[in-house]
Amino acid sequence: MRKQIAAANWKMNLTAQQGEQLLNDILSAEHTLNVNRIAVFAVPFPYLAMAQQQLAGWEHMYVSAQNCYSKKSGAYTGEVSVEMLQSLGIKYVVLGHSERREYFNESNQFLADKLNICLEYNIAPIFCCGEPLEIREAGSQNDFVGRQLKESLYHLSAEQLKNVIIAYEPIWAIGTGKTASSEQAQEMHAFIRAALAAQYGNDVAEEITILYGGSVKAGNAAELFSQPDVDGGLVGGASLVAAEFNAIIDALK
Ligand code: G3P
Repeated sequence: MRKQIAAANWKMNLTAQQGEQLLNDILSAEHTLNVNRIAVFAVPFPYLAMAQQQLAGWEHMYVSAQNCYSKKSGAYTGEVSVEMLQSLGIKYVVLGHSERREYFNESNQFLADKLNICLEYNIAPIFCCGEPLEIREAGSQNDFVGRQLKESLYHLSAEQLKNVIIAYEPIWAIGTGKTASSEQAQEMHAFIRAALAAQYGNDVAEEITILYGGSVKAGNAAELFSQPDVDGGLVGGASLVAAEFNAIIDALK
């Protein structure tokens, strides 16, 4: 059974004190989580150890990094390696967020390299994909996302792929308040799952968690997550507000 995940992406937000308070406010709420229904918090690098400490002892709640480098270690000033993440006990890392693709020119091949080293260190990648507005308006979103999957994922074995979480984040819905409709989300998620099935077989494709990201809020999460191929959300702005993210966690199937 594939996991249902409410994942918070804090991006470059919050002071350490605000982050600590936010996690405490979320932890103080009642949540029904289990091995297949989890919450993940992708916090800025400086807060990884703090968040790990705060979540210690809390079942089914995990800390994620928002990025990592593609090399094990070395002269890459300012970068953070999977070896460092592993040494902190971090189990997840967001890769290929559209903001990193745009601002730091991260290519599909570079992301394939990052996926490889994360899997080597048993850190589960949350691999982001999604099209810009002009691609959606042209109706070529399937080709665009299909290429991202092919160039970053299809070199992986089926066993490796099973450790990858996919996050479909239409760029035109990120931070805009223009959430994709549940039909649009389901249509793309079904396309992604069918593409994985064509490459790896139905059994493997059915095991892959596919999250939706792009203006997920407490008010729309339940409808989005009710779609058969939507397995939760990767949440930006709404994850910075405890009441919002608590409701999004509770909207998981
Ligand atoms: O990674 C999640 C993020 O890109 C979505 O942001 O603010 O639209 O929920 P937001």
